[in-house]
Amino acid sequence: MHRIYLSLSIILFALSIIQCDITNLDEFFTLLKQSPLKKYSVGFLSQANFEVIKRYLLNNVERVLFENKTEMLKAIENETIIAGVSTGILAEDIAPNYHVFSSLLVSPQAMLLAPEYDPTLAPYVSKNESSTDLFDALNAAIADVQRDGTHETSLTLNNRTNLIRVETCLQETPLPVPNRDNTTGYLRHILFNKSKLIIGGLGPKDFGVHDGNYNDKSPTGFYPALLDAIVKKLGELKGPDEIIYGKELSSERKFFRTPESLFRALLNGDIHATDVYIFINVPYNGTGETCSNNSQCRTRETCTNGTCTHPERPRSLHFRTTCTTASRDTKFITKKDSSFLRGNSSSNNQTNGTRQTPKTRWIGFILLFVVLFGTIFLGLLILVRRKKYYRIEHTVQGGFGKFARLQEESELPIEGMDSFEDHIVQSPRDNINSTS
Ligand SMILES: *[C@@H]1O[C@H](CO)[C@@H](O)[C@H](O)[C@H]1NC(C)=O
Ligand SMILES: *[C@@H]1O[C@H](CO)[C@@H](O)[C@H](O)[C@H]1NC(C)=O
Ligand SMILES: *[C@@H]1O[C@H](CO)[C@@H](O)[C@H](O)[C@H]1NC(C)=O
Ligand SMILES: *[C@@H]1O[C@H](CO)[C@@H](O)[C@H](O)[C@H]1NC(C)=O
Ligand SMILES: *[C@@H]1O[C@H](CO)[C@@H](O)[C@H](O)[C@H]1NC(C)=O
Ligand SMILES: *[C@@H]1O[C@H](CO)[C@@H](O)[C@H](O)[C@H]1NC(C)=O
Ligand SMILES: *[C@@H]1O[C@H](CO)[C@@H](O)[C@H](O)[C@H]1NC(C)=O
Ligand SMILES: *[C@@H]1O[C@H](CO)[C@@H](O)[C@H](O)[C@H]1NC(C)=O
Ligand SMILES: *[C@@H]1O[C@H](CO)[C@@H](O)[C@H](O)[C@H]1NC(C)=O
Ligand SMILES: *[C@@H]1O[C@H](CO)[C@@H](O)[C@H](O)[C@H]1NC(C)=O
Ligand SMILES: *[C@@H]1O[C@H](CO)[C@@H](O)[C@H](O)[C@H]1NC(C)=O
Ligand SMILES: *[C@@H]1O[C@H](CO)[C@@H](O)[C@H](O)[C@H]1NC(C)=O
Repeated sequence: MHRIYLSLSIILFALSIIQCDITNLDEFFTLLKQSPLKKYSVGFLSQANFEVIKRYLLNNVERVLFENKTEMLKAIENETIIAGVSTGILAEDIAPNYHVFSSLLVSPQAMLLAPEYDPTLAPYVSKNESSTDLFDALNAAIADVQRDGTHETSLTLNNRTNLIRVETCLQETPLPVPNRDNTTGYLRHILFNKSKLIIGGLGPKDFGVHDGNYNDKSPTGFYPALLDAIVKKLGELKGPDEIIYGKELSSERKFFRTPESLFRALLNGDIHATDVYIFINVPYNGTGETCSNNSQCRTRETCTNGTCTHPERPRSLHFRTTCTTASRDTKFITKKDSSFLRGNSSSNNQTNGTRQTPKTRWIGFILLFVVLFGTIFLGLLILVRRKKYYRIEHTVQGGFGKFARLQEESELPIEGMDSFEDHIVQSPRDNINSTS
């Protein structure tokens, strides 16, 4: 019996030599753990993507930031990085050259609003206007979009149906909102003075054809469609008095290069809310103004190395966070036919590395066959040596039959366990028979 396990593990080892690609999370982490002293570069498209999975990566991972997806895929191709991390790439779009697998970490996305000014809870915000009614109205609009199927239609139209859904405002009845005449703050401003809902975005960025390319004058894709649907629902809302808010509502986007400047605009009241794709599980760490002393920074922020910083705090707590608008599971992208798992001598030589692929693979196959035939030979050998314990009718059966018989006789406890498992396996089958 032990010999069988030994042979099996040899076969598995041989298989693992042939399997040179990283195709799933386990293989990725196994590789990183194998050589803790070796540095592995992993590519990211944004700091936020890195923040989300940082704590799960090992110390030997080096972060490489890329300007855009094309550049990152090139680096995966020439093996300067072992894997790329992305939230927006669809496997079917970049197949057949890459493996795409989930990190199993989900990042919820939502719109963020400034909190209401409060001397103890939120002294860091502009005192001018209240975001409370706008916050309630946006939540109601988001829940409506998700309930009536607009959200699902938009996902289908943009080939995003396999998106992970995390909906934090799931209920079958509309969320209550104040009467139009009773609204206050930003919402009143928007409804009564015909001003636009001002939305702050990052970039402009290209999130791809499915999610939206904001470099276009009129962006199309899932995120832009979602914001349009939310603004439309906002105009259709009505309080208990049944008076509709106003169908002519519209929105306007302002873009900010960094999250710091986006959040500064939000806290200053320059924008009403952020766009729908902001990750809420990423820390907020300050508005980033240049400063020379603390008095130049807003309350709760300090002047550190010339910029206003805040001790890390989840965005979802520092701001008003609406119902989730979307969510992402961060994905790893690795190369097919890569040479990372094939020793070091030829692997990291970018120009000639891929040429080694077929040769190494053949060596692997030959090894597998040698091991397979070795196992059969070993089995026969054991049998011949133990022949005296057997009756003649056993040896008449084929080699594998005898081998199996040998297990039965030498290892009774395991045999007992096998029959126990048989019992478990059989019971569902019996059930199927009885129902059909
Ligand atoms: C983005 O990718 C394109 C190729 O599609 C490349 O020409 C361009 O230089 C890249 N942009 C940046 C900022 O690296
Ligand atoms: C690999 O691709 C990246 C991105 O295009 C590039 O910056 C890097 O220089 C390339 N490395 C080699 C060795 O070709
Ligand atoms: C907010 O207050 C500041 C100064 O207190 C003022 O300059 C600004 O115009 C106000 N903004 C709005 C929207 O009222
Ligand atoms: C979505 O998928 C359909 C069919 O699979 C295809 O015709 C269409 O071009 C895709 N749309 C996008 C934006 O990729
Ligand atoms: C809404 O405004 C009306 C007057 O316009 C007032 O009678 C009513 O009490 C207000 N309702 C609330 C909930 O504030
Ligand atoms: C609407 O605009 C007028 C003048 O343009 C201003 O006096 C008024 O306060 C504004 N109303 C709101 C709710 O902002
Ligand atoms: C916030 O943290 C990021 C990542 O560590 C850093 O790049 C950025 O400069 C920080 N911002 C502030 C205002 O400290
Ligand atoms: C901070 O800097 C400003 C402008 O440089 C100066 O007026 C102020 O006195 C400084 N405050 C402190 C506490 O040093
Ligand atoms: C600030 O500066 C100090 C020393 O000048 C340095 O040790 C520290 O890492 C810097 N912090 C940041 C966030 O850059
Ligand atoms: C593996 O390759 C890298 C880059 O070519 C090199 O720096 C490192 O020393 C190599 N390690 C071994 C064990 O050969
Ligand atoms: C890659 O191989 C070429 C040719 O054998 C050699 O000249 C070059 O130094 C190698 N590069 C590395 C990084 O090992
Ligand atoms: C590596 O590849 C380049 C171009 O593909 C070729 O000119 C060179 O001779 C190759 N070097 C070796 C050692 O095979």
